[in-house]
Amino acid sequence: MSEPSLLKRLDTWIPLSRLTYRIPAHGRSLFCSLGGIVFFGFLLMIATGIILLQFYNPLPDQAYQSLETIQKIGFLSYIRALHYWISQGVLIALIVHLSRVFIVGAYKTPRQVTWWLGVALFATMLMGSYFSGTVLKWDEEGADALAHYQQSLRFLGPLGAMMTDSLPGSSSMNLRIFASHITVFPILIIVLLIGHFLLIRTFNLSPTPWDKWSNQPQIPKEEMKGRFNEHARTIVIFSLIYYGFLAVVALFARAPLGPAPSASHDPLKPPWPFLWMYGFENVWGVVAVLFASGALFGFLALVPLIDRKQDRSFAARKKILTLGGIVAFSVVALTFHGWMTPAQEHTHGHGEAAHEDDGHAHEEEEEHSHDEEEAEHTHDEAEEHSHDEEEADHPHDEKEEDSHAEKKSDHSDDEWDGF
Ligand code: HEM
Repeated sequence: MSEPSLLKRLDTWIPLSRLTYRIPAHGRSLFCSLGGIVFFGFLLMIATGIILLQFYNPLPDQAYQSLETIQKIGFLSYIRALHYWISQGVLIALIVHLSRVFIVGAYKTPRQVTWWLGVALFATMLMGSYFSGTVLKWDEEGADALAHYQQSLRFLGPLGAMMTDSLPGSSSMNLRIFASHITVFPILIIVLLIGHFLLIRTFNLSPTPWDKWSNQPQIPKEEMKGRFNEHARTIVIFSLIYYGFLAVVALFARAPLGPAPSASHDPLKPPWPFLWMYGFENVWGVVAVLFASGALFGFLALVPLIDRKQDRSFAARKKILTLGGIVAFSVVALTFHGWMTPAQEHTHGHGEAAHEDDGHAHEEEEEHSHDEEEAEHTHDEAEEHSHDEEEADHPHDEKEEDSHAEKKSDHSDDEWDGF
């Protein structure tokens, strides 16, 4: 008897051949690959994020400076641009994926929980990952975003207070947001994704509104003409094209980094995914942001409960499609309105909050400078020696620290120019 081939033996350990299970033929199309494209982008976000993590310093008085250093180093500045542009791409693909699922009524029985996990993924990615990423820049926009966050937390009473840095002994907001950005949100996304994928595997892709099975929960197995490996291939091909294009964009367009936060900066507008709420905030203050985002996610969560009939055909779903159209149109029109409106100073307190936070940052600056010095001493002796000895003699002088930081970044420039 001949030995089984290497491929067959490999397959007993990693059964890739099982990935050829049947799926509907439309699973091979671009529109049914959008979820996978989002997933591919999420993996790239993790990869680029891990590299940035080696250089980003989350201490409140160091974060901005470490980003300035990253911007000066060609290779790192490119990785940061990639992280930024891929995040834009993921968000756009996610919105199109959600829209496709909504339009074809793929949230109907038995896929309601798949949809709800999707809504939770959208909320976590947008209000969690994207928002916290904006704060981590720690420039004016980041400080403004943090001020909004702190303002919003005030409406949550004692629970909200615990989540701000107003209580004695509480840790710095920047550190907390950093921890959430690199652990809490990615872990939550992974847990939600596991549920999302398990349900998709269990129920398979839904019939389309134009199939003869449009009013059935599933296409009969014998009528499924596609294979999962073909679906995966489409995802990989389109992801390479899409993110490849963004990788080229990142070569020419750096990730934005505004001026360092100051008490007297000009009013700012939020990043584009939050721009649709700007008009509300101008009128009613930051509380309107809570209500507007709650209304959007609330509407999305209600979709499978509003549209409960099994029929997916467009004719049978006029009401929900009209309602969805109105919501989508409103969000786009409000975004456009927010974009056209001149930036306004908000008297509802986020300026105040920014000040409070500044104060906090200063207090921390003093507290941390001592720790840092210690860390610097123990951290990298070799580097310390190759730098000037003066520094080691007078580490308590703030000005000198600054010049040290400058020297450090100059030094890094020299070191990294090779990239
Ligand atoms: C991190 C975010 C997400 C990832 C990675 C993801 C991934 C996927 C993948 C790979 C599929 C199967 C192929 C496809 O239809 O594209 C899928 C299907 C699905 N997704 Fe998502 N998704 C995400 C977010 C969402 C959101 C925001 C929603 C809606 C609110 C959603 C609802 C659904 C539903 C209902 C299906 C089943 C589609 C069908 O049976 O035809 N997903 N998702």
